[in-house]
Amino acid sequence: MGTKMAHAKQFDTLIIGSGLAGLALALKLADQQKILVVTKKSLLEGASAWAQGGIAAVLSPVDTLAEHVQDTLTAGAGLCDSEAVQYVINHGKSSIDWLIAQGVPFTRDTQTDTGYHLTREGGHSHRRVIHAADATGFAVQQTLATKVLTHPNITILERTIAIDLITGNKLGGGKRASKKSAGTDNVCYGAYLLNSSNGEIITVAARNTVLATGGAGKVYLYTTNPDTATGDGIAIGWRAGCRVANMEFIQFHPTCLYHPHARSFLISEAVRGEGGILKLPDGTRFMPNYDQRAELAPRDIVARAIDFEMKKRGLDCVYLDISHQPEAFLQAHFPTIYARCLEFGINMSKQPIPVVPAAHYICGGVMTDLHARTDVSNLYAIGETAYTGLHGANRLASNSLLECMVFADAAAQDILHKPRVPVPTLPQWDASQVTDADEEIIIAHNWAELRRFMWDYVGIVRTTKRLQRAQHRIRLLHEEIDEYYANFHVTADLLELRNLVLSADLIVQSALTRHESRGLHHSKDYPDMLAHAAPTILFPTPAQ
Ligand code: FAD
Ligand code: SIN
Repeated sequence: MGTKMAHAKQFDTLIIGSGLAGLALALKLADQQKILVVTKKSLLEGASAWAQGGIAAVLSPVDTLAEHVQDTLTAGAGLCDSEAVQYVINHGKSSIDWLIAQGVPFTRDTQTDTGYHLTREGGHSHRRVIHAADATGFAVQQTLATKVLTHPNITILERTIAIDLITGNKLGGGKRASKKSAGTDNVCYGAYLLNSSNGEIITVAARNTVLATGGAGKVYLYTTNPDTATGDGIAIGWRAGCRVANMEFIQFHPTCLYHPHARSFLISEAVRGEGGILKLPDGTRFMPNYDQRAELAPRDIVARAIDFEMKKRGLDCVYLDISHQPEAFLQAHFPTIYARCLEFGINMSKQPIPVVPAAHYICGGVMTDLHARTDVSNLYAIGETAYTGLHGANRLASNSLLECMVFADAAAQDILHKPRVPVPTLPQWDASQVTDADEEIIIAHNWAELRRFMWDYVGIVRTTKRLQRAQHRIRLLHEEIDEYYANFHVTADLLELRNLVLSADLIVQSALTRHESRGLHHSKDYPDMLAHAAPTILFPTPAQ
């Protein structure tokens, strides 16, 4: 497939990604601006629609903002930015009110003061997670997508993947930009996009560009994440000149369904919140040996305990048992999980569910301030792509959807209060030096190799030697992919692999920099936590 050029398009704001962060922002801007939302698969594909447990916010009169703040700080193991934590938690209720006003059908409970059922998850001192049964993300995304699809000011391009941003240095004739014109280096003017259905490259000019591309779970062999989670926004932001922070803090969710045919299916933490017990194959409970909060300890502790038990005993999985709850209760609270387990022959009301930890969430990302602004002017990052300081060394369950909402709103406020400046004429994508790829197999092979060694060498428990091994392999992959990228027409697979390898590189660089064990980063060579907590900040070298 060759490269076709589409006519340049111009919008007030270009939003890259249609998860909760992207859709919420689009709706908050669209009454006053022309918006383009691009998404690399279909509108609802992404982690948001897969979210199960719910959204944490202080809604109950017996709960307090101070306690939600404290739970977040405790989970974050001394590394949260307390200003960011206060900011997000203080905006919890208004975020939920906005979603309710959009029509999200959260599960009701007439017995409570709020009128909504609040569930409980690890690390929370109260029931404070509002949800729509066990498919919260789908309910939220479906509600917002309906509104986005009918808004006259929002254009949506599906199956369109952002390649790179157009910053000032590209206007000066940077890689794959074909002509020179004036511009300021550290400013974003839009992006190059690839329509993956027909190979067309689209040049989009925008006054504001927003990275809302989600996480990077696909960097690991086993993950709860959808295929879209390839670290694109983090890699794109880094290449454009943004700092990234805390990339070593990868959250492994303790309970992903273990079954040869169940790819990436999460068993929500809410199952433990409603009484689920973790057991060894012989039925022995083990979590009280690790933490007095047992199954409801923060995720890093539970995932490490499972990993330890599995390695010590040579187990393929452990078991999550909630069979003591009545079948009707489980069907009402966990209809999706109940049905999915049954598809695999597991009746959770009668038998324990086999589970293993899997890569779930990246706490680090593109550094932003409290307005979601990055280091590059007119460029914002929101959702899982961003590092806002909220999560520190470990994210508290159900704080992520909340962060998406709060920073979508912060970005919207900032964008709407800025003066409107013209965007210069942008150079077309230059495909004059490239040809069709001859060996697509290299991409599939490199992708599989990367995910395997990241799982083996950069997993739940790390050593310096294994990290160095991973770094060595990443460097080789980098060289191969850079050469491939320079010589061949781009495809979605190549772009994703390029971004995954860069994300892996940033994760390993950060992990090697941290000489302690804290939160989600656990090193056998540095088992202690240092007295002073500091984020790991990586600085990009100036783009050529
Ligand atoms: P996403 O929802 O992942 O959306 C990213 C979007 O960007 C997608 O549309 C994707 O296609 C698009 N995209 C990516 N790269 C490109 C590109 N280059 N060009 C164009 N488009 C691109 N958090 C909670 O708070 N509560 C929960 O209950 C919860 N449950 C979870 C359950 C599962 C199984 C998983 C995987 C995560 C869960 N999380 C939960 C985490 C939370 O869902 C995510 O962190 C959050 O949804 C991220 O939202 P987002 O908008 O940043 O990204
Ligand atoms: C879950 O339902 O266990 C996921 C919650 C989260 O990732 O915050």
